[in-house]
Amino acid sequence: MDTTKHKMTSQFAKDVHEGLSAPQKFLSSRYFYDATGDKIFQQIMAMPEYYLTKCEFEIFNQQKDQILSAINPGSKFNLVELGAGDGYKTKILLEHFLKQEANFEYFPVDISGDVLMTLKTDLNDRFPQLKVTNLNYEYFEALERLNELDDSPKVILFLGSNIGNFTPERAQSFFEKLNKVMRPGDKLLSGIDLKKDPHTILEAYNDPTGITRSFNLNLLKRMNRELGANFVIEDWDHFPTYDPFTGECRSYLMSCKKQDVTIEATGHTYSFRDSEPVHMEISRKYRLDEIEDLAGKTGFEVSQHFTDSRDYFVDSLWNKV
Ligand SMILES: C[S@@+](CC[C@H](N)C(=O)[O-])C[C@H]1O[C@@H](n2cnc3c(N)ncnc32)[C@H](O)[C@@H]1O
Repeated sequence: MDTTKHKMTSQFAKDVHEGLSAPQKFLSSRYFYDATGDKIFQQIMAMPEYYLTKCEFEIFNQQKDQILSAINPGSKFNLVELGAGDGYKTKILLEHFLKQEANFEYFPVDISGDVLMTLKTDLNDRFPQLKVTNLNYEYFEALERLNELDDSPKVILFLGSNIGNFTPERAQSFFEKLNKVMRPGDKLLSGIDLKKDPHTILEAYNDPTGITRSFNLNLLKRMNRELGANFVIEDWDHFPTYDPFTGECRSYLMSCKKQDVTIEATGHTYSFRDSEPVHMEISRKYRLDEIEDLAGKTGFEVSQHFTDSRDYFVDSLWNKV
């Protein structure tokens, strides 16, 4: 590989360099989802410990009618899903909305082109009458492009507790930015994980079969393959924590020994101490009053909370004020 030619040309390489050069090292969780990461995430969603997917699945199954009544503007609308993934739970809503003859088109947004292609093929087979337009862009670029294409009212879905991956400051700036690209009458339905028994939460991120571990380690394999890095996977371990005060579940990769790793695409060598953590992901949990506060601070008002039978998870519907 001609390293000088490839050095830092990709955003991936720049982000990795920024994270591994910081005093407290980190890697962005957005890079978890290559083709293998997408597949491992599907296994995570199927794990008994990973209650989040099951709760949102239950909410959609039990309350799809109420959700449709609450979001339907009565005219044609665009259903836009940020970070659609495999659309596993969204299909419940899509099927119901079609049965009820709601007038809508579906726009899944995802930076993973693989995942979008698979989703579109599946939806075309299952629901040939549904118009699906893939938006293979980062969230805000996708929304700006859609605003240029079509001015029907938007219902934006941001499911699966994706917002939990943001720090409180980033969550606030994310919703402020989202508010700016939304038009009056647009709605936002966000899936948010709620604070609960800390054991239940931690187990969801530390399953005994090691699926979450392999999900985290897969990012090192991706860097080896795509950035010419020389991580030795066996020299790294997965370490999750949960802080019940902040509601933050954090996962780290720990260096099992003192070691150096060279990444051709960044042109740098990074030194790791024995037991040095690299922060990978935050999964933040909220209380309903914290969600209402966040909505109010970012230009929204909460229209309705849809919770599961155990009050583990909420799909919170917001109106742009
Ligand atoms: C955790 S999965 C969630 C999938 C699905 N929404 C669910 O609830 O199961 C997150 C998805 O968001 C996508 N994603 C992450 N960051 C993104 C960004 N900034 N712009 C667009 N897509 C993003 C990833 O590629 C991945 O498919």
